[in-house]
Amino acid sequence: MSCSLVYRVGLSRTVIKSYRNLLRLSDHSSLFSTSTNSSNVDKKDQSKPDIKVTFIKANGQKIVGYGKTNENLLDVVINNHLDIDGFGACEGTLACSTCHLILKKDDFDKLKNKPTDEELDMLDLAFGLTETSRLGCQVYLTKEMDGLEVVVPETINDARTT
Ligand code: FES
Repeated sequence: MSCSLVYRVGLSRTVIKSYRNLLRLSDHSSLFSTSTNSSNVDKKDQSKPDIKVTFIKANGQKIVGYGKTNENLLDVVINNHLDIDGFGACEGTLACSTCHLILKKDDFDKLKNKPTDEELDMLDLAFGLTETSRLGCQVYLTKEMDGLEVVVPETINDARTT
């Protein structure tokens, strides 16, 4: 056997041995596994939307949707296929004010995320603005908000067209 062949065979054995060691290691640890992360994501994605939100339309009709923690009220409308005309036209990019909702004073005060300047600017363009108005795409659900009722204003004003 030539010197270079011995070197190549030796090197190959070394590589194979290292590879086997790596495989053995991966059997006993999660160093090479992404399953831990993906299973966490799966669990999160599979959690049940169990926060109930009632939307009261101007004609008095109540429509109910369910959402999960960290989803916003626009997500609830979309994910539950709720029929609210023109709602969420800009898809939550803070550009339209069509997701304007009116909350009860108590619920408004309890909201953890307060309106940003950008939201307040957009709210100024909303139809029928009140002291307890918020943009649905900016109100994020928490477990404590289960049972929330919000009023959908009589009409919408799409700020992009004014
Ligand atoms: S969806 Fe347009 S501002 Fe909320």
